[in-house]
Amino acid sequence: MCGIVGYVGGERTLGVLMGGLKRLEYRGYDSAGVAVLDPDGALGVRKKSGKLQVLADELAAHPIRDGATGIGHTRWATHGGPTDRNAHPQLGDDGRLALIHNGIIENFAELKQELLDRGAVFTSDTDSEVAALLVGEQYRETGDLTEALRRVVGRLHGAFTLLVVHSDAPGVVVGARRNSPLVIGLGEGENFLGSDVAAFVEHTRRAAEIGQDQIVTITADAVVVTDFDGVVVPMKEFDIAWDASAAEKGGWSSFMAKEISEEPEAVAKTLMGRVVDGRVLLPELDALGEDVLAGIDRITIIACGTAAYAGLVGKYAIEKWTRVPVEVALSHEFRYSDPILDGRTLVVSISQSGETMDTLMAVKYAGEQGAKTLSICNTQGSTIPRESDGVVYTHAGPEVAVASTKAFVAQITALYLFGLHLATVRGTLDDAGLAAQLAELQAVPGKLATVLENGPEIRQLARWMTDTQSVLFLGRHVGYPIALEGALKLKELAYIHAEGFAAGELKHGPIALIEPGQVVFVIVPSPRDAGGLQKKVLSNIQEIKARGARVIAIVEAGDVSVLPFVDEAIRIPLAAPLFEPLLAVAPLHIFGMELAAAKGLDVDQPRNLAKSVTVE
Ligand code: AGP
Ligand code: GLU
Repeated sequence: MCGIVGYVGGERTLGVLMGGLKRLEYRGYDSAGVAVLDPDGALGVRKKSGKLQVLADELAAHPIRDGATGIGHTRWATHGGPTDRNAHPQLGDDGRLALIHNGIIENFAELKQELLDRGAVFTSDTDSEVAALLVGEQYRETGDLTEALRRVVGRLHGAFTLLVVHSDAPGVVVGARRNSPLVIGLGEGENFLGSDVAAFVEHTRRAAEIGQDQIVTITADAVVVTDFDGVVVPMKEFDIAWDASAAEKGGWSSFMAKEISEEPEAVAKTLMGRVVDGRVLLPELDALGEDVLAGIDRITIIACGTAAYAGLVGKYAIEKWTRVPVEVALSHEFRYSDPILDGRTLVVSISQSGETMDTLMAVKYAGEQGAKTLSICNTQGSTIPRESDGVVYTHAGPEVAVASTKAFVAQITALYLFGLHLATVRGTLDDAGLAAQLAELQAVPGKLATVLENGPEIRQLARWMTDTQSVLFLGRHVGYPIALEGALKLKELAYIHAEGFAAGELKHGPIALIEPGQVVFVIVPSPRDAGGLQKKVLSNIQEIKARGARVIAIVEAGDVSVLPFVDEAIRIPLAAPLFEPLLAVAPLHIFGMELAAAKGLDVDQPRNLAKSVTVE
């Protein structure tokens, strides 16, 4: 949620800010604003609640002069409603300073009272305004914007990314971050700051990370990073792996449609270079140390939402291959559950954005408790990998749609690579076993492309169901997390009550929900499944059909045994049971998208949701 852009360079600040905020729209917001220092040092500020277009209209109706320095913000309100006065920038030093903030200042109330006691006048209901007023006070004392911000951030509790400009400091933007995203864009005669690289990737693909509790000062020709004590720290530079066009729709009706179409490629790119001569190569795990990996006796996977469901799929495979116990915990529950952690516990976080606050705080907690931490992440330079002992990046490319799709299959792929690597380290999988699993994994992209050919059939199915008020999803074993994921997609995209169940759980209560016409998706296990699960799911289908359910089965091509008992069958290619989830999920992603589109809803930016939940 929310987005931040900073710029110092040529006299084109307004365009850079608005373009950057546009690329950050996918993060979710309710207000937007900009502050630009013009060549005479005057601070032009425009801010409006609503979408970026409302701000653009305001700028057209009430222009401000362009300049070479400025900051831009999209707000996802936490303190104070989404109104014009609560939009950022918030001002300080009698309107000579502008500040923007992502996150929450948890001790704002006491700071606000302190300021009120000094006669400060507040113009908003936000927590952020206390920072603007405090930095303004410090600037009047020090005459140095970096020092002024440094003095203030040491007093703030909570999560924040702050950017400030001051009319007496042209050509300077100062930023600070704690538990909230910020990266640096390095240009020629210009420099950038952004919540993520999408903010400036069209201008430069050279970037640098900013670590926890650090302050960055950018001018047109220099970038200096210090810690909160003012000690200069080295920047960790990197090249952005994708270009601006990758973050464009490319002719697709929505980012989500584009990203579903990229699911095969997301798996293939995540595998690329990591399977060599029949071995799994994950050099990024060297940071963890093979001795650490060999000594692990417990794995805890932490994540939220769709990422957590990827973790549930990974649990089955990692346990089967390594015989190491794996539990999956929701990040926001994990930290408060007094978990049992020690130096032989590996906590694996999964996060597309790398900024999910619930997961970030859980990772930090796990590290403080002595566990080793590994991040599975899709966003270079994001916070969670930086707070982890090791990282295995997925290479799904930028995922812009709020509903996660290609990142999900890439996360499972990365988990499988890690599991196979760990099995090799622990000697629990012989060469033949490893080869068989790798062959299945490397066949997924081609099979997934075949599944996507079901698109038109699924679109038609969705168009028949626009009046549906409730949909259930059933799965067993690795199919159960896919049932949960299918239900989440319907909730977040089509705003329909949907629920995923372990199919075996049905008769223990949920079957009471079945009435004539109830739509139920069933992920049917492969008939080759050794555990005979397919027959049990067939029984589950007959139980609900007997009560009038309308059954839509995701079923392996060639499995004719279920066809007489279902109303619709969506076929997926044969795959070994552990690899079926990677194929079975795609029809459910398509269905959620198509049903939302058929209902005329915003597929890429569903209501109330943000792409990255950067508040706890
Ligand atoms: C999934 O479609 C949702 N957008 C949401 O559940 C998401 O998966 C969750 O917020 C975790 O996000 P992350 O992967 O960026 O940490
Ligand atoms: N807490 C601040 C506010 O409510 C910032 C919210 C955000 O991260 O956009 O204005």
